[in-house]
Formats: sequence, C-alpha cells, structure tokens
Amino acid sequence: MNRGPWFFAGVLLTFASSFGGLILAPQLQIGRQSVVPLEGLGQFYPPARPGQARQGAAVYQALGCVECHSQQVRSLGSDLQRGWGRRMSVARDYLRDHPVLTGNLRLGPDLANIGVRLPDARWHLLHLYDPSSVVNDSLMPRYPFLFDREPEHARFPSPHALAMPPADGAPQCRLVPKPEARALAAYLQSLRSDVPLFEAPILSSPAAPEAAAGIPGP
Ligand code: HEC
Repeated sequence: MNRGPWFFAGVLLTFASSFGGLILAPQLQIGRQSVVPLEGLGQFYPPARPGQARQGAAVYQALGCVECHSQQVRSLGSDLQRGWGRRMSVARDYLRDHPVLTGNLRLGPDLANIGVRLPDARWHLLHLYDPSSVVNDSLMPRYPFLFDREPEHARFPSPHALAMPPADGAPQCRLVPKPEARALAAYLQSLRSDVPLFEAPILSSPAAPEAAAGIPGP
C-alpha cells in the first residue's frame, strides 16, 4: 500500500500545529496590544524612552548585558520575594522595545524594575566602572573603558566627573563617564515596571531601597 499521502498529511499536520501554537496563537492573544492611557495622569504606558535612554539600550545590547541579566519578573519562583519587581512582567511592558531585551541567562539580578529599585545614576556609573566599589564581592565584570579620568584639580573640570572610590596609595583623580556610560545609566534608570496593569496588578509591597550605602560623596 502506498503510504506517501499519509506521511505527507502527518508532516503537514505537524508543521501546521506548531505554526498555530508558536506563531498564530500568541499573535492572536497579544499581537495587537497597544499602549494604554493612565487614568487622570495624561500619560501612556509604557512611556516612550527618552533619546539618551534609547542610545543606552543599544550600548546595553552591544556590551552583552543580556548574557547575565534578564528583564522579566516571573510570577512563578521567587522573583517577587526577591524584590525584583512588584508585579510580574507582561507582553505590554515591551511594546516600545526593539529588539526586546528579555535576556539570555540570569547570572545577575533581574533588571526589569531597576530604575525604581536603584534610581541613582551615580550609583550605576560607579557600579559599571568597578562593581565591587559599591557591592561587596560582586561577580559582575568591570567596564572601565566606558570612562576617562581627570586629575582632581583639573583646570577645566568636566561637569560629569565623579569622585572615585578611594584607592590605597593611588593619586586621587575623578572619573569622567563617556557618553556611552551616561546613556547606559539613563537606560537603566528608564527600566521601570511599577505601573499596575489590568493583566498584571501590583502584587507585592515596595522593596527597601538597596543602594545608597557605601557610596563616596561627590
Ligand atoms: C558575567 C555576568 C554579568 C554581566 C555580563 C553583566 N552583569 Fe550586571 N551583574 C552581575 C552580577 C553577578 C550582579 C550582582 C552583583 C552586583 O550587584 O554587582 C550584577 C548586578 C548588576 C546590577 C545591580 C542589580 C541589583 O539589583 O542590585 C546592575 C544595574 C547591572 N548588573 C547592570 C549590568 C549592565 C548594564 C551590564 C552590561 C554593561 C551588566 N550588568 C553585565 C553579572 C553580570
């Protein structure tokens, strides 16, 4: 008996069901989502990122931050208990992102809500320059090439210069973040998912601010 047509029909059915499950069903469920107006505020969610933050997204992508950081707070597991977000992430959160940077692996904390958890640009800059200067025993790589240095009493000091964490015996100088570093910090500050949505209500109380401690003064 010729089984060719059955074989063909089986292959066709397999491809059709995977197309339906992986492409058609998600497209029907979430493909037409749009930004939502926030009642009484005259704003929309998700908000458009400021230009500097958009440049920062490109830096984030180019430096491979996605290899260690996710941007997706899951409802299962301990993401909410860890304070990574106050609600789970949903498709609407990513409407303004092209490409969506949900991340490949999770070696470091989730960053979906980092702009709320750690709003201080200075903290982010010092952390990028040398993570262990603000987080004890940090395993995150350093990104010193995003910075220049200038002597503490420079004749024309940069308006963006930061005091560096004191180093034993090294001559004091100030850290000048390059435009890429400032854009990256602006991007991190723009990562906020604290607006309650119909499909994702706020589930946990605000996490205690973690940063602040141990940052040297300006
Ligand atoms: C090799 C893995 C790795 C890479 C690559 C990496 N990180 Fe991290 N990151 C970590 C780890 C581990 C931590 C936790 C320790 C710490 O806070 O320094 C962390 C912490 C952070 C935090 C603080 C999060 C919090 O909740 O306290 C931020 C912000 C951050 N990383 C941003 C970045 C950015 C931006 C990049 C890309 C330029 C990047 N990371 C690349 C591993 C990584």
